[in-house]
Amino acid sequence: MKTLIINGSPRQNGDTAALIKALRPGLMGEISELSTYRARLTPCVDCRFCRASPGCAIDDDMRTIYADDYDRVVIASPVYYGSLTPPVIALASRLQIYHSAKHFRGEPIIPRPKRGGVLLAGGGKGNPAEARRLSRVMLRILGAELREEDVVVSLNTDTLAAGDDTDALEAARALGERLSM
Ligand SMILES: Cc1cc2nc3c(=O)[nH]c(=O)nc-3n(C[C@H](O)[C@H](O)[C@H](O)COP(=O)(O)O)c2cc1C
Repeated sequence: MKTLIINGSPRQNGDTAALIKALRPGLMGEISELSTYRARLTPCVDCRFCRASPGCAIDDDMRTIYADDYDRVVIASPVYYGSLTPPVIALASRLQIYHSAKHFRGEPIIPRPKRGGVLLAGGGKGNPAEARRLSRVMLRILGAELREEDVVVSLNTDTLAAGDDTDALEAARALGERLSM
């Protein structure tokens, strides 16, 4: 069993990292983490290669996602302007190949069925509805089932770091265990 964690934070020891650290021990099997700020990830440029041919014209670290060799995928990101961080949104744009395969070529890519999870850290107290929505869309495209309880949010990190948010840490730990069942 393999889990892919998409880490959307630029901060190596920040709030998202604390949630990921809590998640990891519960996860059985192999864990691979894609740091979107350190990876080579270019946004989709709508070159339309994928409308005519399988795959993507850009060869970069999206190949980790396209490989589809994982059974669980977790999107972990800080909330930026209510949404996910820019490199995660860039990654999301590259999921366009799934849309093109189905709608332009009539050759849908059937992703491996998997479980999904979401970890979000936000400095404010507002409900990060857009971050939740976009995460859900990304996971659906990747073939991942996302249950309501599998979204963990640590809010108010401006005053309480996620690493000190015991409720969120416990929820992240429990998420790891649930995903391993
Ligand atoms: C450019 C930028 C935009 C942000 N926008 C929001 C926001 O819309 N809502 C929110 O709650 N926090 C917002 N924050 C705060 C971060 O989400 C918060 O500090 C988070 O805990 C950082 O996580 P990290 O340490 O994993 O990077 C923003 C931070 C930055 C740098």
